[in-house]
Amino acid sequence: MAILITGAAGFIGSSLCEELLNRGKNIIGIDNFDAFYAREIKESNIKNCLKNKNFKFYEADLTDIDALKEVFAQNQIDQVIHLAAKAGVRPSIEHPLDYCRTNVVGSLNILEMMRQYNIKRLVFASSSSVYGNCRAEIFSEDLKVSEPISPYAASKSALEQFIYTYSKLFDIQAVCLRFFTVYGPRQRPDLAIHKFTRLIDEGKPIPMFGDGSTKRDYTYIDDIVSGVCAAADYDQTPYEIINLGGGEPVSLVRMIEVIEKHLGKKAIINHLPMQPGDVDKTAADISKAGRLLWYKPHTNFEQGIEKFVAWYLAEKETFEK
Ligand SMILES: NC(=O)c1ccc[n+]([C@@H]2O[C@H](COP(=O)([O-])OP(=O)(O)OC[C@H]3O[C@@H](n4cnc5c(N)ncnc54)[C@H](O)[C@@H]3O)[C@@H](O)[C@H]2O)c1
Repeated sequence: MAILITGAAGFIGSSLCEELLNRGKNIIGIDNFDAFYAREIKESNIKNCLKNKNFKFYEADLTDIDALKEVFAQNQIDQVIHLAAKAGVRPSIEHPLDYCRTNVVGSLNILEMMRQYNIKRLVFASSSSVYGNCRAEIFSEDLKVSEPISPYAASKSALEQFIYTYSKLFDIQAVCLRFFTVYGPRQRPDLAIHKFTRLIDEGKPIPMFGDGSTKRDYTYIDDIVSGVCAAADYDQTPYEIINLGGGEPVSLVRMIEVIEKHLGKKAIINHLPMQPGDVDKTAADISKAGRLLWYKPHTNFEQGIEKFVAWYLAEKETFEK
């Protein structure tokens, strides 16, 4: 019996694979090394997993149904953790069809494979972006979320609904996890914390969109991985949507200050207007995650940035290629 993890070579996927392998699970990983960021980084992410005899890896694209059939036919899969996606809000505005192809059609291919191979357990990586420009003080799962403001957010929202439908029709037990901006070692190079750290380190100006008051609920990678593992063990109800956040919204200005402190360098700030697709604030209500998954974040923002910057300084040659 094995767990299939899609997006296994990515930031969250590779960290999750390592944790589940440490827990003695058999893992099948799929990834197509999507060109969104460098293949070398993704290869480096999974190099430890590839040394583990309980890890089997397929370079395969979600949109290639024949490749997926091979993976499902060759392995005894009893659960899927579906993380593969085109991630990134702003590029989705430029390339909405690509996002639809991978995040919607590719994900439906996974659901179809689950149906055909009678696999009954699914965890899906959704996103806080489904809340759009929500006016609520804190985002709880029972808020109506019908106003996504980017194709990326719309694709995640669509999948939550498709998964609900598959869960009802085909008796698939599913948990959709809404991740709130994840950061830490291996963070994607396009994400603000990573990008700003690199630019500050190199003495280059950082683009600051808006007046710096926008807030993000940042979640440290180890907390996300614990939450995903707990969701993979959860089987009490047929379908749940659960937020995984850090529970401590941090302003853009403070984010920059904390990076400056741990890098020991001052940022040069290039002030720019807010970007389309960006939301003003994300703030996770994590009480449901606490109730159903015993989820509790253990790394606060200051500690998380300290660990991220230490990793960045040790590894920066890998992503300078
Ligand atoms: N990082 C965050 O802050 C964050 C926040 C909310 C949701 N998420 C979601 O979590 C998941 C993982 O995000 P991440 O930050 O690790 O991103 P990532 O880009 O590092 O990982 C995604 C992986 O999916 C792979 N992939 C993309 N298209 C594919 C395809 N067609 N076939 C097979 N593999 C494909 C990529 O090569 C990549 O390795 C994504 O679904 C993302 O939308 C991430």
